[in-house]
Amino acid sequence: MNVTKVAVVGGGTMGNGIVTVFALNGFSVTLVETKDELIQKAIANISTSLDRMVKKETIKSEDKIAALNNITSVCGVSNVNPETDLVIEAVYENKEVKLSIFNELDKILKADAIMATNTSSISITELAPTSRASNFIGMHFMNPVPIMKLVEIIRGYSTSDETYSIIKNLTLNLDKVPVEVQDYPGFISNRILMPMINEAIFSLMEGVASKEDIDAVMKLGMNHPMGPLTLADFIGLDVCLAIMEVLFNGFNDPKYRPCPLLKKMVAAGKLGRKSGEGFYKY
Ligand code: CAA
Repeated sequence: MNVTKVAVVGGGTMGNGIVTVFALNGFSVTLVETKDELIQKAIANISTSLDRMVKKETIKSEDKIAALNNITSVCGVSNVNPETDLVIEAVYENKEVKLSIFNELDKILKADAIMATNTSSISITELAPTSRASNFIGMHFMNPVPIMKLVEIIRGYSTSDETYSIIKNLTLNLDKVPVEVQDYPGFISNRILMPMINEAIFSLMEGVASKEDIDAVMKLGMNHPMGPLTLADFIGLDVCLAIMEVLFNGFNDPKYRPCPLLKKMVAAGKLGRKSGEGFYKY
C-alpha cells in the first residue's frame, strides 16, 4: 500500500508535531480534535513551530505556506474519511480513551487501513483491535517532533511484516530514522531514559547534589542537550511518573520504583513547564 492520506488524532504537543512533519513532507494530513477551539489552537501552534523553522532557515517561507495548505481538520473521530490509509493516535496517555478511539476507527476505516499509536509506554498488543491486529503498530515520535530524528517503530504481538515495512519506509520518507522495537514495557527509549531521570530525582531527594549540579553533570560530563531534571520538566512530571509506573508494574521489578519525590511533586501539581513549575520555575 502507498500511504498518501494520513490522519492524526489529537492536536496536543505530539499530535501537532506529527501533523507538522507530514505536512512539511508533502502528505495530505487531517488533524482530528474534539472541538473547533482545539483545532484552532493546534493550527496556531503548528504555525508558530513553522515560523521558528523559517527563522532558523531550516525551511523557506514557501515551505511553511505549502505545509499549512496540506493540513485539513475534522471534529470527532467518526468524521475521519474512511479512505484514509494511516491514522496515528496521539491523545493523552489513557488506555481506555485510546481503546475507544481505535474501536470507533475500526468501524469506519477501509479494511487495509493501518492504525498506529504514538503511545510512550502502553502495550501496543493491548491497544490493537482484535480484528485489525496485523494492521496495528506503534509509531513513537520524540518531542519536539519536528526536530528529533528518531521514531521507535513498535511491533505488537500480531503486527504483520507488511505493516512494519510500510511504516518503516514511510518514516524514512519523513526524513526520520526508524528503529525496530518489540512490545515490552517502555520500549527502548523510555526503558532507558526514565530510570535515568528517576535516579536523578532520587539523587536530588537524598541531597547528593543540587538540581543545577545534577543537570550540569549530565550536560557537561555526558554532553546531553538538557540535564535530566530540566528534561523531566520538559516532558512533564506526570508523564514521567506514569511511565515509571508502567515499567514498575510491567516488569514487577523494584528497580523501577518511582521516586517518592516525583510522586509528591505530581500530587502537588508541580508538573514542569506546562504547569509553570517543576524542578525549576517557568
Ligand atoms: N517546534 C516545536 N518546538 C520547538 C521547535 C519546533 N520546530 N524547535 C524548538 N522547539 C522548542 C523547545 O522545546 C523549546 O521550547 P520554548 O521555546 O518553549 O522554550 C524551544 O523550542 C527551544 O528552542 P531552541 O531553538 O532554543 O532549541 P535548542 O536548539 O536549544 O534545542 C531541544 C532544544 C531540541 C529541545 C534540545 O534541548 C534537546 O534536544 N533536548 C532534549 C530533548 C529530548 O530528549 N527529547 C525527547 C524527550 S522524551 C520523548 O519525547 C519521549 C517520551 O515518550 C517521553
